[in-house]
Amino acid sequence: MATYLIRHTPRLSGEVEVSTAKNAVLPILAAGLLTEDPLIIKDVPRITDVDMLLQILRDCGAEVVRSGSDVSVCALQTQSPNHEENIRKLRASILILGPILARSGSACVGLPGGCAIGQRPIDLHVKGLQALGAQVHPIGGKMQLSGRLTGTRIYLDLPSVGATENLMMAATLAEGKTTLENAAKEPEIVDLANCLNQMGAKITGAGTGTVTIIGVERLHGTVYHPIPDRVEAGTLLCAAAITEGSILVRGACAEHLRSLLFKLTETGVGIKETQVGIRITGSAVSPFELRTLAYPGFPTDMQAPMTVVALKCHGTSMLHETVFENRFMHVGELARLGAHIRVENNVALVEGGHVLRGGVMRSTDLRAGASMMLAGMIAQGESILQDPAGHIERGYQNLPEKLRLIGADIERIEDYPS
Ligand code: UD1
Repeated sequence: MATYLIRHTPRLSGEVEVSTAKNAVLPILAAGLLTEDPLIIKDVPRITDVDMLLQILRDCGAEVVRSGSDVSVCALQTQSPNHEENIRKLRASILILGPILARSGSACVGLPGGCAIGQRPIDLHVKGLQALGAQVHPIGGKMQLSGRLTGTRIYLDLPSVGATENLMMAATLAEGKTTLENAAKEPEIVDLANCLNQMGAKITGAGTGTVTIIGVERLHGTVYHPIPDRVEAGTLLCAAAITEGSILVRGACAEHLRSLLFKLTETGVGIKETQVGIRITGSAVSPFELRTLAYPGFPTDMQAPMTVVALKCHGTSMLHETVFENRFMHVGELARLGAHIRVENNVALVEGGHVLRGGVMRSTDLRAGASMMLAGMIAQGESILQDPAGHIERGYQNLPEKLRLIGADIERIEDYPS
């Protein structure tokens, strides 16, 4: 079981490098199923969500080779995965559905798992593929889809990131033109479209609400370097804001972090965008209000780390969660350190300025786990963070090591009694 011992950190300083984005790498890996040529992805982070998706891709017939930090996916042919238990382990496993269907004319995939932060249905993925011409038969907890895909106009009821990615990938090999309306605009969507275009796809409008895809007969291989991880960068910036730090997050892309940078500035920290990354100095003091929204709104993945920032501010902050129904699970754990937080429906009211004291917390999901690690850094004395499901290592490459590099005192302990 992953357990972390976290001691009070007076101040962070120095430089830390951000990894390649998990949420960009996962769909791009799935895009490897769209071509028989090798797709080589540079700087793939060593996180367990990636390891799991690589296993799934192998199960789908791809040859997957990790060489240093690069991964090559070569799918001479594709098939539906046999090991359903792997599909259940991560949400992004649903992203193989569109590519397998588009490539081979049929796909049978179980329901995905991932962080338990809400119901997380896949109706928009399935409805979109149906609109493209797939016949859908639910069988024993799995989705069986078959048929030749033909371009059409699809309106997404919600700008779902995963559904936009799945449909965009499927439409690259559909016959004719597909238009996705109310598409998600996240930087990871643009990155996937850039990679697909480099593979020979004809996608325009990615990053806007209307994405147009002209189907092509085949895609070819390429070498692609995905974008930096904006959530990891944001988590490191929050770590600095709660410790009166002065750090440079190398490789962080300010353009992708606009809403967070504005919010952090409101709290009183100094932000400087440089050629090589983002520098943050000073401490968060002023309370704030935020509302999570689809991009370019405030990212839901940054809500839990910002809850910890709110604990440092003098006064009451309000955090509205509008994207997922069950994303305040960190609140109960932070209370174990003495945090004063009240949740009313989808709003967390955080009373900042109280001293936190070390305690034992249990990670409940990926971003919640990271926020607990940050909280441990500002609590007096020692804290223990138990992460039996390994949530933090699922999505952050070496988070404790990176924090240690800039002055945090965090140890992964192997023999902590459960
Ligand atoms: C992705 C990110 C995740 C982030 C989320 C929102 C990856 C691997 N994960 O998740 O880190 O928190 O975007 O920015 O990229 N929904 C439906 N029906 C569907 C699909 C989604 O109702 O078919 C709902 C979801 O329950 C949720 C909302 O739409 O309430 C947004 O979900 P979505 O954008 O699809 O998130 P993911 O792609 O799962």
